Amino acid sequence: MSNQEQNKKNQQLDQFRVNDKDKSLTTNQGLKMNEDEFSLKAGERGPSLLEDFHLREKITHFDHERIPERVVHARGFAAHGEFEVYESLAPYTKANFLGEAGKKTPVFVRFSTVAGSRGSGDMARDVRGFATKFYTDEGNYDLVGNNIPVFFIQDGIKFPDLIHAVKPEPHNEIPQAQSAHDTFWDFVANNQETAHMIMWHLSDRAIPRSFRMMEGFGVHTFRFVNEEGQAFFVKFHWKPVLGVHSVIWDEALKLNGNDPDFQRRDLYDAIENGQYPEYELGLQIIKEEDEFNFDFDVLDPTKIWPEEDVPVKIVGKMTLNQNIDNYFAETEQVAFHPGHVVPGIDFTNDPLLQARLFSYTDTQLIRLGGPNFHEIPINRPVCPFHNNQRDGYGRQTINSGQVSYHKNSLADNTPTPVSEENGGYKHYQEKVEGKKVRARSISFEDHFTQAALFWNSMSDVEKNHIIDAFSFELGKCKEVAIREQVLDMFSNVSHDLVTGIAENLGLAIPKKKEIDYTKSSPALSQANTKKKADT
Ligand code: HEM
Repeated sequence: MSNQEQNKKNQQLDQFRVNDKDKSLTTNQGLKMNEDEFSLKAGERGPSLLEDFHLREKITHFDHERIPERVVHARGFAAHGEFEVYESLAPYTKANFLGEAGKKTPVFVRFSTVAGSRGSGDMARDVRGFATKFYTDEGNYDLVGNNIPVFFIQDGIKFPDLIHAVKPEPHNEIPQAQSAHDTFWDFVANNQETAHMIMWHLSDRAIPRSFRMMEGFGVHTFRFVNEEGQAFFVKFHWKPVLGVHSVIWDEALKLNGNDPDFQRRDLYDAIENGQYPEYELGLQIIKEEDEFNFDFDVLDPTKIWPEEDVPVKIVGKMTLNQNIDNYFAETEQVAFHPGHVVPGIDFTNDPLLQARLFSYTDTQLIRLGGPNFHEIPINRPVCPFHNNQRDGYGRQTINSGQVSYHKNSLADNTPTPVSEENGGYKHYQEKVEGKKVRARSISFEDHFTQAALFWNSMSDVEKNHIIDAFSFELGKCKEVAIREQVLDMFSNVSHDLVTGIAENLGLAIPKKKEIDYTKSSPALSQANTKKKADT
């Protein structure tokens, strides 16, 4: 392990770290064993005996060594580090770890690809996960983001559909080049809210050169709340100090063949060599009263906030300075959750975020074997935690006393709720009104303005890469009807784009669509006028 600074998380992990050097070999019951090579037999050449507890224990433990891989983001690599805030953010949030210039907080970051299995190659064309756990004095805060600032879908109810379409097709489980198969393109063509994300996905952003050279984004709009109860909309950015770099597709293919572990090796080696990856934290902040002053809905996760309109304020730096000791104990067992927040950070009604708030604990209950995965060393907060939860698989805490419920008059051993003034979390009191409906706001209906904005911001070289990526990936889609649907869809983004793809794939060039993206979306303006009138 390199540069093991004794921050609070390291001190905590030290209690669990074990070095077996020069130790006697024992069973799990502590019994010293004189032999570990030969099973107990009836006669040297005879059958093994059932009473061989050492053989049984060793094999049984081995039989149960694997746990389910994550249903998405299965392939990942992680490191420890530290976050330091440059200036007090108290005007915006009461979050203690952001409250004082120079304050340092231990972090654990896991980078990942999304679609591939645990053993897949690093250089796939895919979104990269960028999940950060801040071990703050007020509890764990998780910023569970990606390296692309928008997402495929607007409502979490579609996430299982998206992932079913993206993963290897179920009948043969052959992982074709990411995003290349028919089901993926069929999903895209039938769910046009994917347009903006697909533009990023087929750009060089989806083949980053290194985890050290990619941005991270919280994607959703979150809420900051300050000591006075005033709230702000906020988007989170990580900006790599080394800058953003990608490989080209040909390099990605070669690297994946030559060294499928290229990105994890790159991160591990850099940290071992003292070239610590650094990322600055950036914030985009919008005042609550400006919620309806944009051409997009601030709750729509398929939209960025253009940096010209809402500048990114750089507020701190994260340095990854310590490799893991044990992949399973740390990288595999870490449990991130966008719902792990601290006072001063809250949610918004983004319907993608809302579904995520359910999904992570639910999946971790099965992945990590029951309700006590918060006790696993990597997941423990560095501050104390106490409540009336008890028992369950793998429970380690030995709670004392007779009573494990609130409220009671019997016990002096149960914890007491904490007032907001003393650091108790209080949810932001947003006013909510409306009919119960299964619906999408019309302010979420513009799928192409920002997709075109992205295309128009590209250099010619980058545009050619996007055309090539579309041609390669869509070229793997066997259904001509789906190819044509996709071309028709992306002619809403750029006629040059679809012309390039059509020529490469020998398809008819779709008719040019006359769309003026310099004007704001009419549906959105209508929706915003209505919402303002309602407010
Ligand atoms: C991992 C669900 C959207 C970023 C996961 C996992 C699930 C999941 C079940 C596996 C967690 C585990 O086993 O520990 C969902 C659902 C989504 C959604 C239901 C939409 C409704 C997103 C979005 C982002 C994202 C929009 C980025 C902003 C991640 C990351 C991981 C992850 C980075 C890997 C965490 C790690 O390294 O352990 N997601 N996800 N997800 N998700 Fe999502």
